[in-house]
Amino acid sequence: MTTNTNSAGSGGKTRHEVCPVSELPPGKKKIVQVGNLTIGVFNVKGEFYALANVCPHQLAPLCEGRVTCETIAPEVGEYELIREGEIIQCPWHGWKFDIATGNSVFNPHKLSTPTFDVAVETPPTDDDGEDETANEDGTDVEGSDQQAEYGTELMGDQPPIDTYEVEVEAEVVVLYV
Ligand code: FES
Repeated sequence: MTTNTNSAGSGGKTRHEVCPVSELPPGKKKIVQVGNLTIGVFNVKGEFYALANVCPHQLAPLCEGRVTCETIAPEVGEYELIREGEIIQCPWHGWKFDIATGNSVFNPHKLSTPTFDVAVETPPTDDDGEDETANEDGTDVEGSDQQAEYGTELMGDQPPIDTYEVEVEAEVVVLYV
């Protein structure tokens, strides 16, 4: 688990990095500890949700249950499985909850487990915001100075072309609690 607290988030909530997005593909969940809370973070078909890991029935670790579907009966003697992957089933007595809302599937107005805000963000960089093309006194670095700084020189009348590896920072799943 790679939870770390970085900074105060919006609405007085604190930002906690859960993991890189690549570690939580669709259909997967991750259970993390944030202070005294245990929270399940879910990727449901590309959308991220977070639920308290506690069942309102008898306080079972709800998020350790099976990610499943809802069963409906369109007609007597028939049943249909819908919303596959959107429902968590309590491991103790089988009650089902909507992962997106925390509401009980069978009694949504009276039973629910708390939800938390989740976002996908690019981690903050160490960039100090300084202009890399400026001298310390703020004036622009002229061509020859720049060549010296980067170890390049003109080849004939062709301007030097340097290439650099560019890495796109991996996005992370972030929890606001
Ligand atoms: S504790 Fe979850 S259904 Fe009973």
